[in-house]
Amino acid sequence: MKSLTLYEKVAHEISHLIESGTFRPGDRIPSVRKLNKQLKVSISTVMEAYRLLEDQGLIECRPQSGYYVISSPMDKQSEIAVSQPSTKPTRVSINDLVMMVFKANRNPNLIQLGAAIPNPELLPADKINRALSSVTRHYRLRNIGYEFVPGCMELRVQIARRALTAGCTVTPDDIVITSGCQEAIMLALKVICKPGDTIAVESPTYYNFLQAIEMLGLKALEIPTHPRDGINLDTLRYAIEHNPIKACLFITNFNNPLGSCMPDDRKKELVEMLSKYDIPLIEDDIYGDIAYSYQRPKIAKAFDKKGIALLCSSFSKTIAPGYRVGWIIPGRYKQEIERLKSITNLSTATPMQLAIADFLSNGGYDHHLRKIRSIYARNISLMSEAVIKYFPEGTKVSRPSGGHVLWIEMPEDIDSLDLYEKSLKKKISFAPGPIFSSRRRYRNFLRFNAATWNEDIKTAVKIIGALADRL
Ligand SMILES: Cc1ncc(COP(=O)(O)O)c(C=O)c1O
Repeated sequence: MKSLTLYEKVAHEISHLIESGTFRPGDRIPSVRKLNKQLKVSISTVMEAYRLLEDQGLIECRPQSGYYVISSPMDKQSEIAVSQPSTKPTRVSINDLVMMVFKANRNPNLIQLGAAIPNPELLPADKINRALSSVTRHYRLRNIGYEFVPGCMELRVQIARRALTAGCTVTPDDIVITSGCQEAIMLALKVICKPGDTIAVESPTYYNFLQAIEMLGLKALEIPTHPRDGINLDTLRYAIEHNPIKACLFITNFNNPLGSCMPDDRKKELVEMLSKYDIPLIEDDIYGDIAYSYQRPKIAKAFDKKGIALLCSSFSKTIAPGYRVGWIIPGRYKQEIERLKSITNLSTATPMQLAIADFLSNGGYDHHLRKIRSIYARNISLMSEAVIKYFPEGTKVSRPSGGHVLWIEMPEDIDSLDLYEKSLKKKISFAPGPIFSSRRRYRNFLRFNAATWNEDIKTAVKIIGALADRL
């Protein structure tokens, strides 16, 4: 596990004091000199720590006065409540709506607040493209051949090493390379389920999961989800005891769209519960590396003793979505997953696997992560403040602790599909709430992508807020 540098530890302690309410919005935090004496660390260490906290949007420096906790206009009342979905499984019918909404994603003339794509400027474009040319030269023939299932060994070695930072000990043989995280999810669903089966999902959840569930003729059962801590385990237990749940499909770290993250002890409880009932957990950890804290959270797979968890992830959010490189750690389903991957497309493209392996082994990934984590944390904080400022009174926002999307609840009478139509006329797109639910709930909700924050985006948020005010 990556050990923290001294300044990260100092920043961590201060942010903990802020989160726990010891320092409240507007409070002055100890001066640099005071903290350097108190903690017996150097002045430059405290300065570094305060810079990090500034980047994360937690504190601000007031000239001649000192450092203060940001006086956020967001208080408890502006925080979204736990969702309360229907307790019955349902067939899903969402594809048409999603396709209609996401046609706008391909329109370069729109300001894009819709798709959850990373900020391309923050991806290591030069480094990864250099790695690609280097492996192309180095592996002249291997590069143009198949890299049959389970995929490139060098890459699986790197993924196994990185799994340690998520609390999980696996070997390269436990891993199967896929073409992105979405392929990993599809393989898992296809191996485990047959038409008519019920899948438990978070509520709200990523619309591509719902599309997959629809395509495979499955039913979705939405589980109430806390906007910070993830699914409610008591309700899940009740749901399992009263429904024939075939599998759970959860984004345990930084759910899309909520940003929720299950604390590690609850992940453990989840895995123990599912092991007891022998229900597989398909776990999506695509945002796990973009934790705003200093150490990424564990994955539920780390607590899996029986092989019931199928961990799915990719480098689409942190390195290169276009390279289409992901993986699955399928536990006891390895043989079936390998067979299905092989039948589906024989292998994932070789040059991309080699290039990502090269980039990971030559270092720089952790440094890159540190940079994007603090920028995304700051963007989320600035966007949240703008939403509270410009949207109608009563609007609430999620409090993500990782990732780069923001979930917004508007007053009940505002229909996000109506708002979406009007926004398109102003050349702005976003993701309306109903696509995140099997029953098209969340009509007064929407999701923004905060991967990029600049004056244009701020103006777009202001325009949508004003449109919402007039609905
Ligand atoms: C939660 C989640 N899972 C999976 C994906 C798709 O990942 P990939 O592009 O690696 O297939 C996304 C993309 O937005 C996502 O948000």
